[in-house]
Amino acid sequence: MANLEHLISESLSDFNACADMPALENAKAKYLGKTGALTEALKGLGKLSNEERPAAGAAINVVKQAVEAALNARREAILNAEQAKQLAAESLDVTLPARAQSTGGLHPVTLTLQRIEQLFHSIGFDVATGPEIETDFYNFTALNIPENHPARAMHDTFYVDENNVLRTHTSPVQIHYMENKEPPLKIIAPGRVYRVDSDATHSPMFHQVEGLWVDENISFANLKGVVQDFLQKFFERDDLTVRFRPSFFPFTEPSAEMDMSWNGGWLEIGGCGMVHPEVFKHVNIDSEKYRGFAFGLGVERLAMLRYGVNDLRHFFNNDLRFLSQFK
Ligand code: FA5
Repeated sequence: MANLEHLISESLSDFNACADMPALENAKAKYLGKTGALTEALKGLGKLSNEERPAAGAAINVVKQAVEAALNARREAILNAEQAKQLAAESLDVTLPARAQSTGGLHPVTLTLQRIEQLFHSIGFDVATGPEIETDFYNFTALNIPENHPARAMHDTFYVDENNVLRTHTSPVQIHYMENKEPPLKIIAPGRVYRVDSDATHSPMFHQVEGLWVDENISFANLKGVVQDFLQKFFERDDLTVRFRPSFFPFTEPSAEMDMSWNGGWLEIGGCGMVHPEVFKHVNIDSEKYRGFAFGLGVERLAMLRYGVNDLRHFFNNDLRFLSQFK
């Protein structure tokens, strides 16, 4: 039994070498497990005589208690160290400054649309809307662009199916509105439009604002006045002028392209004209009695000029470094 004494120092150094609980459980097995040294020694008591057994048993117990005490001490040390490590990892510095809440902002195209609506509203225009998926009839035929007419090729169209398209302009809203209302009519129709088109100044999805004013004595002079007045207010420049270049749209006659003066040159901003009698015919408005003007402006074009953005694609990349400048 004397040779059991060394187990005390041996187990102590074994236990102290353990860095975590699984290692300690392994080390424990060597002494106190089913086949551990102390367990074997206790089993060996049966082979001793009745006289020898009590003293031997007592001696084994002394060693066993010492080993268990060493084990418990090490277990506590490991658990304390693990807890300290966890606390350090989860520690919170309550003196750090709070994270600022960042507020969102409206998209520059939304800001531009709001500004356009506000300015036209101030001179008596209502806002009308229409569907983004249109039938061929509303997008083309009712606007005097019959099937197989070359003017259809002016718009590179996304077809949903044989009879439905993603609207290529906001002009079909004119038709919806005139079908349901009697003149006088005075509306703008802002919204998304779609064309198979993509470069620095053209996007497959963009926004237009349609304008329509129908009444008994509307003339091209009213169109010029309204558009010029709007642009001067929009850009906050009284010296801004508008030039009307003869052009062609099947739904207006005469038709013009509108350019505005900009940095010593001219920039195209949209199309316009007097509503074509064929269009009035489709919506049962008497073209002998009523006249109207219509125009369509590119919203991204106006936003680019107002904010000094040189590539239209910035508006659709959703880069926060760009967007947060418009708050
Ligand atoms: C039209 O769409 C006509 N519906 C405008 C109109 C309305 C004329 C009423 C007469 C009466 P146009 O295809 O030119 O016209 O487009 C008008 C404006 O939309 C252009 O001047 C341009 O500013 C803008 N635009 C056209 N295509 C794109 C595009 N792919 N991306 C961004 N803006 C575009």
